Amino acid sequence: MGTVSDSRGFGVIGTGVWGETHVMTYSAHPGAELVCICDLNEELVRGRAEQYGAGSWTTDYEELLARDDIDAVSVVTPDFLHREVAIAAAEAGKHVLLEKPMATTVADCQAMIDAAEAAGVTLMVDFHNRWNPAMWGIREKIESGELGEPQMLTVRLNDTIYVPTQMLSWSGKSTVIWFLGSHSVDLVRWLFDDEVTRVYSVSRSKVLKARGVDTPDFFLTIVELAGGGVAHIENCWIMSESMPTVFDFKLEMIGSEGTCFADCSSHRMLQTYTPEGPEYADVAVRTEVQGEPGGFGINSIRHFADCVIEDVEPAVSPRDGLENTRVLVAIHESAQSGQPVEVQR
Ligand SMILES: NC(=O)c1ccc[n+]([C@@H]2O[C@H](COP(=O)([O-])OP(=O)(O)OC[C@H]3O[C@@H](n4cnc5c(N)ncnc54)[C@H](O)[C@@H]3O)[C@@H](O)[C@H]2O)c1
Repeated sequence: MGTVSDSRGFGVIGTGVWGETHVMTYSAHPGAELVCICDLNEELVRGRAEQYGAGSWTTDYEELLARDDIDAVSVVTPDFLHREVAIAAAEAGKHVLLEKPMATTVADCQAMIDAAEAAGVTLMVDFHNRWNPAMWGIREKIESGELGEPQMLTVRLNDTIYVPTQMLSWSGKSTVIWFLGSHSVDLVRWLFDDEVTRVYSVSRSKVLKARGVDTPDFFLTIVELAGGGVAHIENCWIMSESMPTVFDFKLEMIGSEGTCFADCSSHRMLQTYTPEGPEYADVAVRTEVQGEPGGFGINSIRHFADCVIEDVEPAVSPRDGLENTRVLVAIHESAQSGQPVEVQR
Protein backbone atom coordinates (compact mmCIF):
# COMPACT_ATOMS: atom_id res chain seq x y z
CA MET A 1 0.00 0.00 0.00
CA GLY A 2 1.37 3.42 -0.95
CA THR A 3 1.70 6.23 1.53
CA VAL A 4 0.38 9.75 1.24
CA SER A 5 3.87 11.00 0.33
CA ASP A 6 3.84 9.01 -2.92
CA SER A 7 0.21 9.81 -3.71
CA ARG A 8 -0.90 9.68 -7.38
CA GLY A 9 -3.74 11.38 -9.20
CA PHE A 10 -6.63 9.26 -10.52
CA GLY A 11 -9.59 9.87 -12.82
CA VAL A 12 -12.67 7.85 -13.74
CA ILE A 13 -14.35 8.02 -17.17
CA GLY A 14 -17.89 6.61 -17.04
CA THR A 15 -19.53 6.96 -13.61
CA GLY A 16 -22.61 4.74 -14.09
CA VAL A 17 -23.46 1.56 -12.16
CA TRP A 18 -19.92 0.17 -12.02
CA GLY A 19 -18.05 3.45 -12.45
CA GLU A 20 -19.32 4.32 -8.98
CA THR A 21 -17.26 1.41 -7.61
CA HIS A 22 -14.10 2.89 -9.15
CA VAL A 23 -14.96 6.34 -7.81
CA MET A 24 -15.51 5.05 -4.26
CA THR A 25 -12.32 2.94 -4.36
CA TYR A 26 -10.00 5.78 -5.38
CA SER A 27 -11.72 8.25 -3.05
CA ALA A 28 -10.92 5.98 -0.08
CA HIS A 29 -7.38 4.90 -1.11
CA PRO A 30 -4.75 6.55 1.14
CA GLY A 31 -2.25 6.83 -1.72
CA ALA A 32 -4.68 8.08 -4.36
CA GLU A 33 -6.19 11.44 -5.03
CA LEU A 34 -9.45 11.38 -6.98
CA VAL A 35 -8.66 14.43 -9.13
CA CYS A 36 -11.46 14.38 -11.69
CA ILE A 37 -14.37 12.20 -12.84
CA CYS A 38 -16.20 12.29 -16.15
CA ASP A 39 -19.53 11.18 -17.59
CA LEU A 40 -21.66 12.36 -20.51
CA ASN A 41 -24.52 12.59 -18.02
CA GLU A 42 -23.89 15.90 -16.20
CA GLU A 43 -26.39 15.36 -13.40
CA LEU A 44 -24.97 11.90 -12.67
CA VAL A 45 -21.32 12.93 -12.62
CA ARG A 46 -21.98 16.04 -10.52
CA GLY A 47 -23.83 13.92 -7.96
CA ARG A 48 -21.04 11.34 -7.79
CA ALA A 49 -18.41 14.10 -7.38
CA GLU A 50 -20.36 15.60 -4.48
CA GLN A 51 -21.00 12.23 -2.82
CA TYR A 52 -17.42 10.95 -3.01
CA GLY A 53 -15.51 14.24 -2.80
CA ALA A 54 -13.91 14.15 -6.26
CA GLY A 55 -11.73 17.21 -6.88
CA SER A 56 -13.63 18.12 -10.06
CA TRP A 57 -15.96 16.72 -12.70
CA THR A 58 -16.47 17.11 -16.44
CA THR A 59 -18.59 15.78 -19.31
CA ASP A 60 -15.60 15.86 -21.70
CA TYR A 61 -13.01 13.11 -21.19
CA GLU A 62 -10.42 15.01 -23.27
CA GLU A 63 -10.53 17.73 -20.60
CA LEU A 64 -9.83 15.12 -17.90
CA LEU A 65 -7.00 13.56 -19.92
CA ALA A 66 -5.38 16.97 -20.52
CA ARG A 67 -4.70 17.40 -16.78
CA ASP A 68 -1.12 16.69 -15.79
CA ASP A 69 -2.05 15.99 -12.16
CA ILE A 70 -3.75 12.74 -13.25
CA ASP A 71 -1.47 9.68 -13.52
CA ALA A 72 -4.06 6.95 -14.14
CA VAL A 73 -7.66 6.51 -15.22
CA SER A 74 -10.40 3.88 -15.10
CA VAL A 75 -12.43 3.44 -18.28
CA VAL A 76 -15.91 2.32 -17.25
CA THR A 77 -17.95 3.11 -20.36
CA PRO A 78 -20.16 0.48 -22.10
CA ASP A 79 -18.07 -2.41 -23.47
CA PHE A 80 -18.17 -1.40 -27.18
CA LEU A 81 -16.94 2.12 -26.30
CA HIS A 82 -13.69 1.20 -24.51
CA ARG A 83 -11.30 1.54 -27.46
CA GLU A 84 -11.50 5.25 -28.25
CA VAL A 85 -11.29 6.38 -24.62
CA ALA A 86 -8.53 3.93 -23.65
CA ILE A 87 -6.32 4.85 -26.62
CA ALA A 88 -6.78 8.58 -25.93
CA ALA A 89 -5.86 7.94 -22.27
CA ALA A 90 -2.72 5.97 -23.17
CA GLU A 91 -1.66 8.63 -25.69
CA ALA A 92 -2.09 11.22 -22.92
CA GLY A 93 0.39 9.17 -20.86
CA LYS A 94 -2.12 7.82 -18.33
CA HIS A 95 -2.05 4.29 -16.92
CA VAL A 96 -5.35 2.59 -17.76
CA LEU A 97 -7.68 0.26 -15.88
CA LEU A 98 -10.30 -1.04 -18.32
CA GLU A 99 -13.54 -2.63 -17.26
CA LYS A 100 -14.26 -6.09 -18.64
CA PRO A 101 -14.56 -7.15 -21.40
CA MET A 102 -11.44 -5.41 -22.71
CA ALA A 103 -13.28 -4.71 -26.00
CA THR A 104 -15.71 -6.44 -28.33
CA THR A 105 -13.23 -7.10 -31.16
CA VAL A 106 -9.70 -8.54 -31.13
CA ALA A 107 -8.58 -5.62 -33.32
CA ASP A 108 -9.76 -3.14 -30.68
CA CYS A 109 -7.83 -5.05 -27.98
CA GLN A 110 -4.67 -5.08 -30.10
CA ALA A 111 -4.98 -1.35 -30.84
CA MET A 112 -5.24 -0.57 -27.12
CA ILE A 113 -2.27 -2.81 -26.30
CA ASP A 114 -0.20 -1.13 -29.04
CA ALA A 115 -1.14 2.34 -27.74
CA ALA A 116 -0.21 1.41 -24.15
CA GLU A 117 3.11 -0.12 -25.23
CA ALA A 118 3.98 2.91 -27.38
CA ALA A 119 3.24 5.24 -24.46
CA GLY A 120 4.94 3.01 -21.86
CA VAL A 121 1.86 2.96 -19.61
CA THR A 122 0.28 0.14 -17.61
CA LEU A 123 -2.89 -1.47 -18.98
CA MET A 124 -4.98 -3.76 -16.78
CA VAL A 125 -8.40 -5.35 -17.40
CA ASP A 126 -10.62 -5.54 -14.32
CA PHE A 127 -11.32 -9.28 -14.08
CA HIS A 128 -12.27 -8.93 -10.43
CA ASN A 129 -13.16 -12.59 -9.86
CA ARG A 130 -9.42 -13.22 -9.52
CA TRP A 131 -9.90 -11.39 -6.19
CA ASN A 132 -13.01 -13.40 -5.27
CA PRO A 133 -11.98 -15.35 -2.12
CA ALA A 134 -13.71 -18.57 -3.27
CA MET A 135 -12.07 -18.44 -6.72
CA TRP A 136 -8.71 -17.66 -5.15
CA GLY A 137 -9.21 -20.68 -2.85
CA ILE A 138 -9.83 -23.00 -5.80
CA ARG A 139 -6.84 -21.63 -7.68
CA GLU A 140 -4.62 -22.25 -4.61
CA LYS A 141 -5.90 -25.82 -4.29
CA ILE A 142 -5.03 -26.42 -7.94
CA GLU A 143 -1.57 -24.90 -7.54
CA SER A 144 -0.83 -26.92 -4.39
CA GLY A 145 -1.79 -30.11 -6.24
CA GLU A 146 -4.64 -30.95 -3.82
CA LEU A 147 -7.13 -31.32 -6.70
CA GLY A 148 -4.70 -33.18 -8.94
CA GLU A 149 -4.96 -32.23 -12.60
CA PRO A 150 -8.02 -30.06 -13.43
CA GLN A 151 -10.37 -32.08 -15.66
CA MET A 152 -13.69 -30.31 -15.99
CA LEU A 153 -15.18 -27.04 -14.88
CA THR A 154 -18.77 -25.82 -14.76
CA VAL A 155 -19.40 -22.07 -14.45
CA ARG A 156 -22.92 -20.74 -14.04
CA LEU A 157 -23.12 -16.94 -14.02
CA ASN A 158 -26.60 -15.62 -14.68
CA ASP A 159 -28.47 -12.32 -14.17
CA THR A 160 -32.12 -11.59 -13.60
CA ILE A 161 -34.02 -9.95 -16.45
CA TYR A 162 -33.78 -6.65 -14.52
CA VAL A 163 -30.19 -6.23 -15.79
CA PRO A 164 -30.84 -6.13 -19.57
CA THR A 165 -34.29 -4.50 -19.32
CA GLN A 166 -33.77 -1.87 -16.59
CA MET A 167 -30.20 -1.60 -15.28
CA LEU A 168 -28.31 -1.32 -18.59
CA SER A 169 -29.52 1.18 -21.20
CA TRP A 170 -27.18 -0.42 -23.77
CA SER A 171 -27.94 -4.16 -23.40
CA GLY A 172 -29.44 -4.30 -26.93
CA LYS A 173 -26.01 -3.29 -28.28
CA SER A 174 -24.20 -5.96 -26.25
CA THR A 175 -24.82 -9.54 -25.08
CA VAL A 176 -24.75 -11.54 -21.87
CA ILE A 177 -21.57 -13.13 -23.24
CA TRP A 178 -19.78 -9.79 -23.22
CA PHE A 179 -21.26 -8.85 -19.84
CA LEU A 180 -21.05 -12.14 -17.89
CA GLY A 181 -19.30 -14.54 -20.28
CA SER A 182 -16.22 -12.32 -19.97
CA HIS A 183 -15.96 -13.22 -16.26
CA SER A 184 -16.72 -16.90 -16.98
CA VAL A 185 -14.07 -17.26 -19.69
CA ASP A 186 -11.48 -15.44 -17.59
CA LEU A 187 -12.09 -17.96 -14.78
CA VAL A 188 -11.73 -20.85 -17.25
CA ARG A 189 -8.37 -19.55 -18.56
CA TRP A 190 -7.10 -18.62 -15.10
CA LEU A 191 -8.13 -21.79 -13.23
CA PHE A 192 -6.87 -24.16 -15.94
CA ASP A 193 -3.86 -21.87 -16.58
CA ASP A 194 -4.36 -22.76 -20.23
CA GLU A 195 -5.69 -21.40 -23.52
CA VAL A 196 -9.04 -22.19 -25.13
CA THR A 197 -8.76 -23.97 -28.51
CA ARG A 198 -12.37 -24.69 -29.50
CA VAL A 199 -15.87 -23.59 -28.45
CA TYR A 200 -19.40 -24.73 -29.20
CA SER A 201 -22.23 -22.47 -28.05
CA VAL A 202 -26.01 -22.57 -28.38
CA SER A 203 -28.11 -19.46 -27.76
CA ARG A 204 -31.76 -18.50 -28.08
CA SER A 205 -33.50 -15.14 -28.60
CA LYS A 206 -37.11 -15.10 -27.49
CA VAL A 207 -37.90 -13.64 -24.08
CA LEU A 208 -35.88 -10.42 -24.33
CA LYS A 209 -36.88 -9.86 -27.95
CA ALA A 210 -40.53 -10.01 -26.86
CA ARG A 211 -39.70 -7.29 -24.31
CA GLY A 212 -38.18 -5.11 -27.05
CA VAL A 213 -34.51 -5.76 -26.21
CA ASP A 214 -32.73 -7.25 -29.22
CA THR A 215 -30.12 -9.46 -27.54
CA PRO A 216 -29.99 -13.24 -26.89
CA ASP A 217 -31.59 -14.65 -23.72
CA PHE A 218 -28.81 -17.13 -22.96
CA PHE A 219 -25.74 -18.99 -24.22
CA LEU A 220 -24.82 -22.56 -23.20
CA THR A 221 -21.18 -23.09 -24.14
CA ILE A 222 -18.71 -25.98 -24.18
CA VAL A 223 -15.09 -24.85 -24.12
CA GLU A 224 -12.06 -27.07 -24.87
CA LEU A 225 -8.56 -26.18 -23.65
CA ALA A 226 -5.19 -26.99 -25.21
CA GLY A 227 -4.18 -29.34 -22.39
CA GLY A 228 -7.36 -31.44 -22.61
CA GLY A 229 -9.50 -29.68 -19.97
CA VAL A 230 -13.17 -29.02 -20.75
CA ALA A 231 -15.49 -26.36 -19.33
CA HIS A 232 -19.21 -25.84 -19.50
CA ILE A 233 -20.37 -22.22 -19.20
CA GLU A 234 -23.93 -21.06 -18.62
CA ASN A 235 -24.76 -17.35 -19.05
CA CYS A 236 -28.30 -16.01 -19.13
CA TRP A 237 -30.00 -12.63 -18.79
CA ILE A 238 -33.56 -13.81 -18.11
CA MET A 239 -33.73 -15.17 -14.56
CA SER A 240 -36.81 -14.15 -12.62
CA GLU A 241 -36.79 -10.72 -11.00
CA SER A 242 -38.05 -12.32 -7.80
CA MET A 243 -34.58 -13.82 -7.23
CA PRO A 244 -33.05 -12.39 -4.01
CA THR A 245 -30.13 -10.80 -5.88
CA VAL A 246 -29.53 -9.82 -9.50
CA PHE A 247 -27.01 -12.59 -10.14
CA ASP A 248 -26.59 -16.33 -9.53
CA PHE A 249 -23.01 -17.56 -9.56
CA LYS A 250 -21.91 -21.16 -9.02
CA LEU A 251 -18.76 -22.98 -10.01
CA GLU A 252 -17.58 -26.61 -9.84
CA MET A 253 -14.01 -27.70 -10.54
CA ILE A 254 -13.45 -31.44 -10.85
CA GLY A 255 -9.82 -32.51 -10.76
CA SER A 256 -8.20 -35.94 -11.01
CA GLU A 257 -7.80 -36.05 -7.20
CA GLY A 258 -10.32 -33.61 -5.77
CA THR A 259 -13.45 -31.56 -6.37
CA CYS A 260 -14.39 -27.98 -5.39
CA PHE A 261 -17.87 -26.47 -5.29
CA ALA A 262 -18.32 -22.71 -4.88
CA ASP A 263 -21.59 -20.86 -4.40
CA CYS A 264 -20.87 -17.16 -4.84
CA SER A 265 -24.50 -16.06 -4.98
CA SER A 266 -23.95 -13.35 -2.41
CA HIS A 267 -27.49 -13.39 -1.01
CA ARG A 268 -26.57 -16.46 1.01
CA MET A 269 -24.00 -14.60 3.12
CA LEU A 270 -26.27 -12.15 4.98
CA GLN A 271 -30.03 -12.43 5.06
CA THR A 272 -32.22 -10.04 7.09
CA TYR A 273 -35.95 -10.52 7.64
CA THR A 274 -38.05 -7.67 9.09
CA PRO A 275 -41.71 -6.59 8.80
CA GLU A 276 -40.60 -4.58 5.74
CA GLY A 277 -39.63 -7.82 4.04
CA PRO A 278 -36.43 -9.73 3.29
CA GLU A 279 -33.12 -8.02 2.56
CA TYR A 280 -30.12 -9.74 0.98
CA ALA A 281 -27.05 -7.55 1.40
CA ASP A 282 -24.13 -7.77 -1.02
CA VAL A 283 -21.27 -8.26 1.41
CA ALA A 284 -18.98 -10.06 -1.05
CA VAL A 285 -18.58 -7.91 -4.17
CA ARG A 286 -19.07 -4.33 -2.97
CA THR A 287 -19.72 -3.34 0.61
CA GLU A 288 -18.47 -1.12 3.44
CA VAL A 289 -16.53 -2.43 6.42
CA GLN A 290 -15.33 -0.22 9.31
CA GLY A 291 -16.10 2.85 7.21
CA GLU A 292 -13.99 1.66 4.25
CA PRO A 293 -15.12 0.21 0.90
CA GLY A 294 -14.61 -3.55 0.85
CA GLY A 295 -15.31 -6.64 -1.27
CA PHE A 296 -13.55 -8.24 -4.20
CA GLY A 297 -15.03 -5.75 -6.71
CA ILE A 298 -13.20 -3.04 -4.77
CA ASN A 299 -10.01 -5.04 -4.19
CA SER A 300 -9.15 -5.47 -7.88
CA ILE A 301 -9.38 -1.70 -8.45
CA ARG A 302 -7.32 -1.11 -5.30
CA HIS A 303 -4.72 -3.52 -6.72
CA PHE A 304 -4.46 -1.37 -9.88
CA ALA A 305 -4.02 1.76 -7.75
CA ASP A 306 -1.33 0.03 -5.67
CA CYS A 307 0.51 -1.05 -8.86
CA VAL A 308 0.46 2.52 -10.22
CA ILE A 309 1.71 3.91 -6.92
CA GLU A 310 4.40 1.27 -6.47
CA ASP A 311 5.30 1.09 -10.17
CA VAL A 312 4.80 -2.69 -10.51
CA GLU A 313 2.98 -4.83 -13.09
CA PRO A 314 -0.64 -5.74 -12.23
CA ALA A 315 -1.72 -9.37 -11.73
CA VAL A 316 -3.89 -9.23 -14.89
CA SER A 317 -2.02 -8.65 -18.16
CA PRO A 318 -3.26 -6.96 -21.37
CA ARG A 319 -2.88 -10.36 -23.06
CA ASP A 320 -5.44 -11.79 -20.59
CA GLY A 321 -7.88 -9.20 -21.93
CA LEU A 322 -7.11 -9.93 -25.58
CA GLU A 323 -7.30 -13.75 -25.23
CA ASN A 324 -10.58 -13.36 -23.32
CA THR A 325 -12.09 -11.32 -26.16
CA ARG A 326 -10.75 -13.79 -28.74
CA VAL A 327 -12.72 -16.60 -27.03
CA LEU A 328 -15.85 -14.44 -26.62
CA VAL A 329 -15.79 -13.61 -30.35
CA ALA A 330 -15.56 -17.35 -31.14
CA ILE A 331 -18.51 -18.08 -28.81
CA HIS A 332 -20.67 -15.54 -30.70
CA GLU A 333 -19.56 -17.04 -34.04
CA SER A 334 -20.44 -20.55 -32.88
CA ALA A 335 -23.86 -19.53 -31.58
CA GLN A 336 -24.51 -17.78 -34.90
CA SER A 337 -23.38 -20.66 -37.13
CA GLY A 338 -24.53 -23.58 -34.98
CA GLN A 339 -21.08 -25.16 -35.43
CA PRO A 340 -18.04 -25.60 -33.16
CA VAL A 341 -15.46 -22.87 -33.81
CA GLU A 342 -11.67 -23.25 -33.59
CA VAL A 343 -10.17 -20.27 -31.75
CA GLN A 344 -7.85 -18.60 -34.29
CA ARG A 345 -4.41 -17.36 -33.15
N1 LIG B 1 -22.95 -3.11 -13.84
C1 LIG B 1 -22.14 -4.02 -13.32
O1 LIG B 1 -22.47 -4.78 -12.39
C2 LIG B 1 -20.74 -4.15 -13.83
C3 LIG B 1 -19.88 -4.85 -13.05
C4 LIG B 1 -18.59 -4.96 -13.47
C5 LIG B 1 -18.19 -4.38 -14.65
N2 LIG B 1 -19.05 -3.71 -15.45
C6 LIG B 1 -18.54 -3.15 -16.72
O2 LIG B 1 -18.40 -1.74 -16.57
C7 LIG B 1 -18.60 -1.10 -17.85
C8 LIG B 1 -19.73 -0.09 -17.67
O3 LIG B 1 -20.90 -0.77 -17.24
P1 LIG B 1 -22.01 -0.06 -16.32
O4 LIG B 1 -22.87 -1.16 -15.84
O5 LIG B 1 -21.35 0.84 -15.33
O6 LIG B 1 -22.79 0.81 -17.43
P2 LIG B 1 -23.59 2.18 -17.20
O7 LIG B 1 -24.42 2.39 -18.41
O8 LIG B 1 -24.25 2.19 -15.86
O9 LIG B 1 -22.43 3.28 -17.15
C9 LIG B 1 -21.68 3.64 -18.28
C10 LIG B 1 -21.50 5.17 -18.23
O10 LIG B 1 -20.56 5.55 -19.24
C11 LIG B 1 -20.96 6.85 -19.67
N3 LIG B 1 -20.30 7.16 -20.94
C12 LIG B 1 -20.50 6.59 -22.16
N4 LIG B 1 -19.68 7.14 -23.07
C13 LIG B 1 -18.95 8.08 -22.43
C14 LIG B 1 -17.94 8.99 -22.82
N5 LIG B 1 -17.51 9.07 -24.09
N6 LIG B 1 -17.41 9.83 -21.89
C15 LIG B 1 -17.82 9.77 -20.61
N7 LIG B 1 -18.79 8.93 -20.17
C16 LIG B 1 -19.34 8.09 -21.06
C17 LIG B 1 -22.48 6.79 -19.74
O11 LIG B 1 -23.08 8.06 -19.70
C18 LIG B 1 -22.80 5.94 -18.49
O12 LIG B 1 -23.12 6.73 -17.36
C19 LIG B 1 -18.91 -2.23 -18.85
O13 LIG B 1 -17.72 -2.59 -19.50
C20 LIG B 1 -19.42 -3.34 -17.94
O14 LIG B 1 -19.25 -4.63 -18.50
C21 LIG B 1 -20.32 -3.55 -15.04
